[in-house]
Amino acid sequence: MSLKKTNPTSAKAWNALGDHHKEIENTQLKDLFASDKDRAKKFTLQSQGFFVDYSKNNITSETKGLLLDLAKEVGLKDAIKKYFDGDIINETEGRAVLHTALRAKKGDDIKVDGENVMPEVYTVKAKIKTFTEAIISGHKKGYTGKAFTDVVNIGIGGSDLGPAMVTEALKFYGNHLKMHFVSNVDGDHVYETLKGLDPETTLFVVVSKTFTTQETLSNATTIKKWFLKHASQKDVAKHFAAVSTNTAKIEEFGILDENVFPMWDWVGGRFSLWSAVGLSIALAVGYENFDSLLMGANEMDEHFRTADFEENIPIVLALLSVWYNNFYGAETEAIIPYSQYLSRFSAYLQQGIMESNGKSVDRNGERVSYETGTIIWGEPGTNSQHAFFQLIHQGTKLIPADFIGFKDSLHGDTDHHNKLMANFFAQTEALMNGKTKEEVRGELEGKSMSKSELEALLPFKVFEGNKPTTTILIDKLTPKSLGALIALYEHKIFVQGVVWNIYSYDQWGVELGKQLATTILKDIENSEIANHDASTMQLLHYFKS
Ligand code: F6P
Repeated sequence: MSLKKTNPTSAKAWNALGDHHKEIENTQLKDLFASDKDRAKKFTLQSQGFFVDYSKNNITSETKGLLLDLAKEVGLKDAIKKYFDGDIINETEGRAVLHTALRAKKGDDIKVDGENVMPEVYTVKAKIKTFTEAIISGHKKGYTGKAFTDVVNIGIGGSDLGPAMVTEALKFYGNHLKMHFVSNVDGDHVYETLKGLDPETTLFVVVSKTFTTQETLSNATTIKKWFLKHASQKDVAKHFAAVSTNTAKIEEFGILDENVFPMWDWVGGRFSLWSAVGLSIALAVGYENFDSLLMGANEMDEHFRTADFEENIPIVLALLSVWYNNFYGAETEAIIPYSQYLSRFSAYLQQGIMESNGKSVDRNGERVSYETGTIIWGEPGTNSQHAFFQLIHQGTKLIPADFIGFKDSLHGDTDHHNKLMANFFAQTEALMNGKTKEEVRGELEGKSMSKSELEALLPFKVFEGNKPTTTILIDKLTPKSLGALIALYEHKIFVQGVVWNIYSYDQWGVELGKQLATTILKDIENSEIANHDASTMQLLHYFKS
């Protein structure tokens, strides 16, 4: 069964939200706190060691009520059921969307085309366990009998970003294996990676759902050639593993069956780190930690599936984002993790969120008349404070931001952690409260400057405040909490797609550029250049000259 196709602008709640926005758009967060001593508590959610304080958002109880009404009107409850039941909700590709099955319990019964997929999921998990344990323990060796020291993941998009982000995020839990990621078709990436590697002790994992992606196949071929300069064809079997739905193509590449890890077309690339695409994660941190990551996600799935809408973290965060996107006209959202380990988190979510919800045609095939996918960006705090926070504090744009932090530090250095977290809390407080003219005047009056100098400087030092933030405070960065955090954002994506009446799980928008690149590659390699627009023609001639 497909998802309901409700234009959100026809919902009663949508129109009520429009009116409500006009009433409260100039309300100051400071005043909302002053008039309700329970506000912080009222707008806080807790589950699985997540403390989510969304009280510093430009909302009232009425806003929340209307947003929840909107979710009900567009049929979110029914949509969630279809998502978890494996219905064909990715209609334009005719597929179910079941990354949740990859982290479901062994005994669960999740059907695709009438067949329970769980036995297959667990067979592949068992294969991942056996393979990764043999590599980590040194039981499986390279072609000269040495244990592996390095692993290179060759993939791009979802076949790179998820494993790379998680491997970095869980570095604390890592073992002796050094992880490398090659994604860009830019030869500099692959050659720079190979520079320090020893073919005798390096394992290559080729990850591509389709096994047709230009970047991945080019990099894998270059790496194989490099490897064969040192070893012989039969040694490829020992040093190459592959993850794909396209097992025939893998065979052509010469990878042994025992090193081939299947996946399924009901797993979207950007949601695939829970499948064998996460092989590099399991190699980096061990199978037990990989499994904990999955179990953390499973707990968030259960929360999302069963918690009431008003208590439901992914639903509330998704609706807040709809509020800013569609009623305040906010174009971007920042995601600021206060953890260096999460340095790739925003980049990872850029694919998850923007490839999913960057759509302008609704589920009826009509051009939408409202805004959809938000632009996602961010870098870890505190570095980002010294880079782009100026614009968030004093620029002209409204940028709702998620602040993600952890109560406990992994290395246990209280001095560092307290400083980090002091900044974490200070920023959301500063963004909300700002600094008034009077406060600035009070500060400047103590300084040795004339009255006119003071008045001239004053406007530049004022902070308007009233900038919305959501604080996600998690007990500790563990495989489990990371799994839950990623799943939280995955479900947020889903809810937004349901509200916006778009298909979140296809990505036709990446096709055109790929098609043209194929034509242009021929133009570059052949003497003739096909017909292009005048600018492209000029550029190609200049490039070839
Ligand atoms: O960028 C488009 C895309 O299809 C992504 O959705 C996907 O994650 C990536 O390319 C890589 O695809 P594959 O895993 O098939 O190589």
